Amino acid sequence: MSRNDANSGAGGNFGSQSQPGAMKRSDMNQGDVLFDVKGLSKSFGDLQVLKSIDLTVRKGQVSVLMGPSGSGKTTVLRSLNSLESPDGGTITFTGGPSFDFSKSQKKPERALLRDQSAMVFQQHNLFPHRTVLENVTEGPIHVQKTPKAQAIAEAEALLARVGLADKRDVYPFQLSGGQQQRVGIVRALALKPDVLLFDEPTSALDPELVGDVLAVMKELADEGWTMVVVTHEVTFARAVADQVVFMDGGVVLEASTPSQMFSNPRHRRTRQFLDRILNPLGE
Ligand SMILES: Nc1ncnc2c1ncn2[C@@H]1O[C@H](COP(=O)(O)OP(=O)(O)OP(=O)(O)O)[C@@H](O)[C@H]1O
Ligand SMILES: [Mg+2]
Repeated sequence: MSRNDANSGAGGNFGSQSQPGAMKRSDMNQGDVLFDVKGLSKSFGDLQVLKSIDLTVRKGQVSVLMGPSGSGKTTVLRSLNSLESPDGGTITFTGGPSFDFSKSQKKPERALLRDQSAMVFQQHNLFPHRTVLENVTEGPIHVQKTPKAQAIAEAEALLARVGLADKRDVYPFQLSGGQQQRVGIVRALALKPDVLLFDEPTSALDPELVGDVLAVMKELADEGWTMVVVTHEVTFARAVADQVVFMDGGVVLEASTPSQMFSNPRHRRTRQFLDRILNPLGE
């Protein structure tokens, strides 16, 4: 089944592949592998940001990436979304395309990789001079060549799901930060990707707006979307993640279930980092 077929029913839910609650989120090693990242590397000039990243993402599961500033979390997401070209390593989709970055990627290969995922940015990145509806339908109509009427109907259904049906014709500046970010999520969903990538989606929001965005993300997880989320929201990670991946120094230091990661991390470096975010005053 193609991704578009699998996700065609955007009216009744967020259009995910699986049924709500179809996957129990207790064992991070259960479920089919959607894609495997092996040995991903990337340098900017002399700075090797990704040394050798290994990451397994399973269908319908939520992977939370954590790690210190500069550890390469955004670079991993941008590499998955073809916004960055890694220098080496592979990304292999089970039963789908695979990418070997030791060879230079041509434009069609980069487009194919980009089409597997959709990204929600820290700052929503909406087009300021386009309405909410135009922002959401831009990719489906102009990139994916979805018929306009269908793209609009699907966008309206998704906007309704996040409580923004009445905002379809306003411009981003007329929305709160939380509403903008929910439009950013809808824009990603409208592309019907196999995996949703979130880069610190709540870190630029006022505290009272964070909950609305996390609630939408939790619903998406419950509906079976595959998600890779860079966030330091420990409550979210505990409640929603299947695996928590800790990155440091350009490698994945450890990946485990949230309960294991937060109660008994294996590495001293992980423990130090978690101590700091769980107890920022050091008391
Ligand atoms: N386009 C670029 N050119 C040069 N250096 C870059 C570029 N993008 C990222 N870097 C550097 O790569 C390193 C990793 O950046 P990245 O944004 O992936 O880290 P991060 O883990 O997401 O950090 P943060 O938690 O602060 O968002 C940083 O040292 C950053 O300065
Ligand atoms: Mg980042």
